[in-house]
Amino acid sequence: MKQVISMLCVMALAFSLVAGIGDFGSASAAEAGSNVLVAYFSATGNTRPLAGYAADILGADLYEIVPAVPYTSADLNYGSADSRTSTEQNDPSARPAIAGRVEDMTQYDTVLIGYPIWHGQAPRIISTFLESYDFSGKTILPFCTSGSSPIGTSDDNLHVLAPNAHWLNGTRFPAGTTRAAISAWLDANGITAATPDATPAPTPVPTAEPTPVPTETPTPTPVPTVEPTPVPAVTPTPVPAPAKNGWQWESGGWRYYSDGMMVRSNWIDDAGERYYIDTNGIMVSNGWKYISGAWYYFEKSGAMVSNNWKYDAGVWYFVGADGKMFEGFAEIDLGRADDGWYYFNEKHDGTFGHMMTGWRYINGTWYYFNPKHDGTFGRMITNNWVHDGGDWYFVGPDGKMYEGLTEIDLGRNDDGWYYFSPNHDGTFGHVLTGWHNIDGTMYYFNPNHDGTYGRMVTNR
Ligand SMILES: Cc1cc2nc3c(=O)[nH]c(=O)nc-3n(C[C@H](O)[C@H](O)[C@H](O)COP(=O)(O)O)c2cc1C
Repeated sequence: MKQVISMLCVMALAFSLVAGIGDFGSASAAEAGSNVLVAYFSATGNTRPLAGYAADILGADLYEIVPAVPYTSADLNYGSADSRTSTEQNDPSARPAIAGRVEDMTQYDTVLIGYPIWHGQAPRIISTFLESYDFSGKTILPFCTSGSSPIGTSDDNLHVLAPNAHWLNGTRFPAGTTRAAISAWLDANGITAATPDATPAPTPVPTAEPTPVPTETPTPTPVPTVEPTPVPAVTPTPVPAPAKNGWQWESGGWRYYSDGMMVRSNWIDDAGERYYIDTNGIMVSNGWKYISGAWYYFEKSGAMVSNNWKYDAGVWYFVGADGKMFEGFAEIDLGRADDGWYYFNEKHDGTFGHMMTGWRYINGTWYYFNPKHDGTFGRMITNNWVHDGGDWYFVGPDGKMYEGLTEIDLGRNDDGWYYFSPNHDGTFGHVLTGWHNIDGTMYYFNPNHDGTYGRMVTNR
């Protein structure tokens, strides 16, 4: 009986070693190295370097979850309820297809899964990934990057997609997290670098009776007479090639490396300037670039323009302190003589972002933007007469066009009462002349171009 029990123990031990079954009941040390896969999805490049660090530290395989249909900038516009990402994130059953597969998932017993937070959750492509393989018995360690959101429920909500995996608690990192921080996180989760051939050789099961220990004293091994080969005093340590860091001019463009990893689709802040590295790993320069829902302008040097006017191809634009191109009504305050309110076209009609001039109807009111190149081109006219298309108008101190009977007081000779057409008959806002019935009373407005044209005639 005793022999049967010990045979069973031996078989159990041998099986567990062959099958590589660990203690999945505890959140402690997962055996790492070549049996670890670092899988990640990164749409704009923030999660990618973190996954790269983890794989590098662990000597693990790195797998990028690549969408079969790439996400465009418009798709990534989280401000729009109709964008592809908003639609997918609103639909828990969405499963965006993945291009390619992990070659042999069975070889891994620990899988790190990295993703960006999208609307508080993991992108739906992570669900596609989890449903594409059998994770039973594997340890999964999730991690994510986000603008500011915590990991929240994004990792817990994934558990149902791989219910037989051993899930470790996920961690959120900000973009730009260092390799050292990733290393500390792996340590904290008990996932350490692979030692070559770390799998212990199975203890041979004794098949025969143990050899009896000899009772005689063994003959001492003769001391060799030959001089031992002198060991060199200093063993030269191989110096690893230094990891590339910073800007590098390569293949016709500026690239940026961080600890040997080439940056893609990400911002670089350097010496007080902001730069952007495109998806192809090359710095953007000399023109407009649409990034995550906004337009930015980059000089020839690659430096992003911020809080300034930009004159490009005959058109004026303005970019804010964050580099985003202005759209709509905006007050410009640069401490310059031409400061004031301007209007940048909000319509995607081929002139989006252009500084507009002339009359503009904004939120139910007409405003007038200087069409003359007199030093305040484009600025909204306030508290003044406007002569446009042969007609006279008046805009108040807030830039709003007047309508109806109004007293004008500019300290000028032609000050007085004027009547601005309240009629939407093609004359709206025009100075009217001659007789007019206003609220039941007849008034007369000077029709002569004698210096007080349009002024109400009184006491005559
Ligand atoms: C569609 C979309 C939705 C996002 N939703 C959130 C969010 O809910 N909370 C947050 O803090 N950041 C959010 N972000 C910002 C990303 O999580 C953050 O930039 C992340 O680091 C991007 O990682 P990646 O560059 O690897 O794609 C969102 C970004 C996108 C494109």
